[in-house]
Amino acid sequence: MSKHIVVIPGDGIGAEITAAALRVTQAAADKVDFSFTHENKQAGGAAIDQFGVPLPEETVEACRKADGVLLGAVGGPKWDHVSPELRAEKAILGLRKALGLYANLRPVKAFSALANQSPLKPEIVNSVDIVIVRELTGGIYFGARQEAAVINGVEQACDNEMYSRPEIERIVRLACRAAISRKGKVMSVDKANVLATSRLWRKVAGEVAAGFTQVELNHMYVDNCAMQLVLNPGSFDVIVTSNLFGDILSDEAAVLTGSIGLLPSASLGDGTGLYEPIHGSAPDIAGQGIANPLGTILSAAMMFRYSLGSEQAAAMIEKAVEQVLADGYRTADIYQQGFTKVTTDEMTEEVIARL
Ligand code: NAI
Ligand code: MG
Repeated sequence: MSKHIVVIPGDGIGAEITAAALRVTQAAADKVDFSFTHENKQAGGAAIDQFGVPLPEETVEACRKADGVLLGAVGGPKWDHVSPELRAEKAILGLRKALGLYANLRPVKAFSALANQSPLKPEIVNSVDIVIVRELTGGIYFGARQEAAVINGVEQACDNEMYSRPEIERIVRLACRAAISRKGKVMSVDKANVLATSRLWRKVAGEVAAGFTQVELNHMYVDNCAMQLVLNPGSFDVIVTSNLFGDILSDEAAVLTGSIGLLPSASLGDGTGLYEPIHGSAPDIAGQGIANPLGTILSAAMMFRYSLGSEQAAAMIEKAVEQVLADGYRTADIYQQGFTKVTTDEMTEEVIARL
């Protein structure tokens, strides 16, 4: 059965890195006898230029029908001056909403070949292999807001956090399922000593995890988790948490490995999944052919795992990426003396050669 993917290059380095990832996707598919079709769609600044809006309806429609969406990055200085409603970044929020993507997965794994680039000691960073599962469509980012106003002579503002049982159940279920194919450990992170939403979160997480016999669930306060991520990151397997806590912890975890160009992400819901590197459109290096394609290539591996149903192709791509790094190939962003400096295209070819 053939699958269909939509590729959204976006802006800046987006076209270069999605083209690279698509070549790897094709090569991996050929190896495992997997067939797929693909089409390119526009979003972000490119779409503003062509259609006058950051997220054209035809792009949304195509994504809804697809099995997976591979996105580069959107935005850049050229579109920073348009009205807030028309900003390129609206495309990402619009897609998350349209596709019902309530879970954001960020695997953070050390590549031993790059351990000396981490801010942590090599023996600590080498133990890092975490997936952060962040709730993406609820919580304080979507609660009722009161912008700053003077009330009784005092300027004040207000944000609200709300979580419902179904919202917590589905994200914790997804985290438990992700843990089964890993070490089977889920750490639910909250602030239950203070927040009512966290107390509900903790209770529901316990009930959901009880249904997964292979999963061990533990709870941790978010402030302690922020500390443990630096002190003892090897103790974590899957972390599941709310939108706000997940935003902060996933950025903290991302830098543990020391390289933004290498990290993939998946946004999942009940329908089509969206896959993108965690970095932005890097306008400073766009068009030069030097961007690191590995974050997008690893995002394509996640797409094979979670949306296309080929764990074999996913694992093959991940292995090949590990191997190119071990063999000393480096794009400019991770280059150090003594290694082989390569362009986006050369890195891509080296990955394909190792599949
Ligand atoms: P950025 O991640 O694009 O760049 C930060 C720094 O990292 C730059 O020096 C860049 O050259 C470097 N970098 C990023 N990815 C790289 C790669 N693959 N290879 C080599 N070097 C890489 O973040 P910045 O500069 O804050 O944002 C630029 C634009 O991207 C903005 O318009 C921002 O809104 C947008 N953005 C879009 C995101 C998305 O589409 N999901 C996420 C983050 C930012
Ligand atoms: Mg963030």
